[in-house]
Amino acid sequence: MTLSSDRRADVFPWPAALYAHSVGGADRLGVFRHNPTVRLYREILARHLRPGMTVLDLGCGHAIGSCHLAAIDGEALEYVGVDANEEACARAREVLARLPAARIRGQVVRSDADAFLSGATRRFDLVLCNHGLQACLRAAAGGPTAFGQRVAATLGIDGLLIVGDVFIDERATPQEMQRIHDYAARATTYLRTGVHDPPGSLPSLEIDAIFSGVGLRLVERHDAPWFALSAYEGLQRARYALCVFVRAADRAADDPTASDRRPAAI
Ligand SMILES: C[S@@+](CC[C@H](N)C(=O)[O-])C[C@H]1O[C@@H](n2cnc3c(N)ncnc32)[C@H](O)[C@@H]1O
Repeated sequence: MTLSSDRRADVFPWPAALYAHSVGGADRLGVFRHNPTVRLYREILARHLRPGMTVLDLGCGHAIGSCHLAAIDGEALEYVGVDANEEACARAREVLARLPAARIRGQVVRSDADAFLSGATRRFDLVLCNHGLQACLRAAAGGPTAFGQRVAATLGIDGLLIVGDVFIDERATPQEMQRIHDYAARATTYLRTGVHDPPGSLPSLEIDAIFSGVGLRLVERHDAPWFALSAYEGLQRARYALCVFVRAADRAADDPTASDRRPAAI
């Protein structure tokens, strides 16, 4: 796949009115607009978004996901953001309240992602987990497979899972690892979409294994540099992986938990 780049016009605009509060001010929007991971994520979201979708955003941070959804012409979307950090949730609620309600409305729940999934009593059309997947996996009771099963059980039939995160390529030397971690420590000062962990050591292909292993089907997989000047900074081994999975109808029909789900609100 060809990455979005500034050489190609944006199909959807980046209105400061929608993004500024999430990213910490309109003057910071440029950092996000030029970040290849953000651009790729937004492009893939737009490809799969449909009017009226219910969306669960795990590790939502400042709910920048809701800003993307509003900016890419979301229509009548219902959004539930989940984040373990209270400050992030407070900001996310403010962000959500400022977005046009005709495009997106919803709520933000302070919770560990895995705990939220364990107690979820409804399903979603679209589950997102961007730049927080490895943190969520680390905290998950029962490990990655149990987390994957809970995610799958929260998807409706034909429901989509879009997951992205930054990974350190296993071929990275100790010096490269150190450079990546040093950069990550500095990067937290200007990429303010929530609490940022350093890139994880989970091999990116594990994403496929975790979610394919619980019956989801991989629809597409992409790869991008961590940030625009990654190569210039000598950080080529830090890569962003983005995968889209679907919960196919045949698996949903086989799911023994499907009939005893309560259609309750959160
Ligand atoms: C880097 S931010 C990502 C924000 C946003 N999703 C994005 O696309 O930029 C990661 C967020 O995941 C949250 N997080 C980390 N571990 C979590 C867990 N176990 N459960 C819920 N949220 C978690 C952090 O608090 C943080 O706000």
